[in-house]
Amino acid sequence: MPETEIPQNATAFDMPRHVAIIMDGNGRWAAARGLPRAEGHRRGVEALRRTVRAAGEIGIKIVTIFSFSAENWSRPASEIGELMGLLRRFVRNDLAELHKSNVRVRVIGERAELEPDIARLLVEAEELTKNNDGLTLVVAFNYGARQEIVRAARDIAAAVKRGDLDVADIGIETFARFLNAPDIPDPDLIIRTSGEQRLSNFLLWQAAYSELIFVPTYWPDFDRAALESAIREYQQRERRFGGLVARTGS
Ligand code: IPE
Ligand code: IPE
Ligand code: MG
Repeated sequence: MPETEIPQNATAFDMPRHVAIIMDGNGRWAAARGLPRAEGHRRGVEALRRTVRAAGEIGIKIVTIFSFSAENWSRPASEIGELMGLLRRFVRNDLAELHKSNVRVRVIGERAELEPDIARLLVEAEELTKNNDGLTLVVAFNYGARQEIVRAARDIAAAVKRGDLDVADIGIETFARFLNAPDIPDPDLIIRTSGEQRLSNFLLWQAAYSELIFVPTYWPDFDRAALESAIREYQQRERRFGGLVARTGS
């Protein structure tokens, strides 16, 4: 195992329980090398593999990855086809290994418009790994935070209409129960690669008190050392949640 400054038995206070990653910069990584964007996406899958492995070894419990946004449909059809092909291959090639490593896969995002075989693969990944209790890998696929919040508002309205919920009982906690994967705690840390400094419609509700770290590295170059460096920076932050003293996230 490579030498690391992060103790493997770091206390819960130091270690972010949930790290969410906006995996950005595949296209620019490729362009910088005169390669097609698709090559950047392929190398991005390799970065994903090593990052998930490293996160498990470091002791992070939950990793959420932004792999395809609700707005990414506006890209050329050829690139969308390549990204869908990579997802298919990722599930087919890596699911068994993830399962063996005790990883639990969850998927958030809108499933309705997905091609049926992709929707099936996502269900298969969740079903196969549902009893695993190692790292939880939340895959945000065809995900948009505004879409998620609107869907939750609709479901809440429907529950009120049915008489299952009182308007007076709609508070922050109740609202959050209608969002995707309500049992998953909010991310302690959100990392975005590629130098862009925005959320691009990712986890807008859940990011209310997340620490944000933007790194210049393009996603295909991201690795264990980059993850550890982000965690060290996180560990220097003081999370006050509006109060006056530093607290842990969860
Ligand atoms: C991230 O890399 C992957 C997806 C958004 C699917 P990009 O494809 O956005 O790469 P850049 O930002 O154009 O370099
Ligand atoms: C965000 O990256 C979405 C993913 C990483 C999947 P984008 O490349 O789509 O974001 P913008 O368009 O630069 O904001
Ligand atoms: Mg991008």
